[in-house]
Amino acid sequence: MTLQAPRPGRRAGTHTTRSPRRAGRPGGSRWGRPSASRPAGPLRWAVVVVGGGLATQLAGCGQTSPSALDPHGSGADRVAGLWWLLFWISAVVFAVVTVLVLVALARRRGDRDTLVRRGGGEALIVIGGVIVPAIVLTAVYVVGLRDLRALTVPAHTDLTVEVTGHDWWWEVRYPDQGIVSANELHVPVGRPVRLLLTSRDVIHSFWVPQLTVKTDLIPGHTNTTWVQASRPGTYRGQCAEYCGLQHAKMAIFVIADPPDAFDRWVANERQPAVAAADPVAARGRLALERNSCAACHTVRGTTAGGTLGPDLTHFGSRRTIGAGALPNTPGNLGGWIVNSQTVKPGNRMPPQPLTPEELQALLAYLERLK
Ligand code: CUA
Repeated sequence: MTLQAPRPGRRAGTHTTRSPRRAGRPGGSRWGRPSASRPAGPLRWAVVVVGGGLATQLAGCGQTSPSALDPHGSGADRVAGLWWLLFWISAVVFAVVTVLVLVALARRRGDRDTLVRRGGGEALIVIGGVIVPAIVLTAVYVVGLRDLRALTVPAHTDLTVEVTGHDWWWEVRYPDQGIVSANELHVPVGRPVRLLLTSRDVIHSFWVPQLTVKTDLIPGHTNTTWVQASRPGTYRGQCAEYCGLQHAKMAIFVIADPPDAFDRWVANERQPAVAAADPVAARGRLALERNSCAACHTVRGTTAGGTLGPDLTHFGSRRTIGAGALPNTPGNLGGWIVNSQTVKPGNRMPPQPLTPEELQALLAYLERLK
C-alpha cells in the first residue's frame, strides 16, 4: 500500500502545482505527465534548429548557384583543397570518437562510482585528447597559413583591373587598356589578373566562389587580390558583404575568354560606341543625349558623359541589366528604363518619363551598342 499510495498523490500534486492558466485550459490532461514531456523540449528545439539550418543551406544550392567546391581557378583550387582536408580530418575524428564511445558503452563494467574508483585511461586521454589534436591542429594551421599567403599575395602579372563597388553595381576599369565597363569582368584563361578593389560608398565584398576568395571593397582604401581562371566560362560572383537594400541584387560576372577571344574583346571595348546607322537608332541616341540618361551615364562617342551610373558604351554586349537583376533583353530593358524601382527598389536610377516612340528608339539604340 505504501508503494502504491504516492502514485495518485503525485498525479494530484502535479495538478495542484500547475499554473492556473494551464490548469484551466481545455484538454489540460495533455500536461498530466510533465516528467515525460520535459526532455522533448530541448530535443525538439535541436531538431528544429539543425533541420532549419540544413534546409536554409540546401535551399542555397542549385544547379545555377556557383559552388566553391567546383573550382575553375587556381585561387578556388586552394580553397576547395583546404575545405576537403578539413572535411576528411573531421570525418576521421568523428568516426574514431564514435567507435570509442560505442566500445566504451559495450565493454562497460560496473557503475560509475566503481569506474571512478578503479581509475585508468589517463594515457588515452593524454594521447587522444592532447597530443594528437595538437599535432593535427598545428598541421592544419600551417597549411592554412600557406594557402592564405598564396591567396592574398598578388601574382606577377601585366594585367590590372580596377573594380569599384557602388550601391548596387560594380564599376570595372582596365586602366592600361583604357576600358570602362560595369558588372562584367573579362579575363584571359590561364593568365593571372590583378584586381584593385575599392568602394565609392559603403563596404562591399568581391566573391566569385569558383575562382577566388572574398575580398572586401572599402571606401578610401584599395585592397589587392588576383584572379586566374583555368577554363573558359562565365562565373557568377556576388557581393558578399551586406551593403543595403539591394545587396542581394549585386552580382558580377567574370567571363574567362580564350586568349585570342580576350584580345578581340579588348580591341572592341576600346572603340567608342557604334554609330547609329539607321533612323530609329539615331532617334534613340538623341533621346539618350537629351533626357536625363546623359547626366548619369557615359556613352563614349556621344555627348552623354555622366559618371554616376554604369558606362553604357558597349551595353548591348552585356548579359544582364542592373548587376544581374534581369537578363539583358529589349523587354526587360524597356521595363527597367521606364521604372527600374519596380525591379530593384532603392537603386539610384529614377523612373524615365519617355514617350513610347522615344523608348522604342532608345531600346533599339542601346541594344545595338555591342
Ligand atoms: Cu554590395 Cu552587398
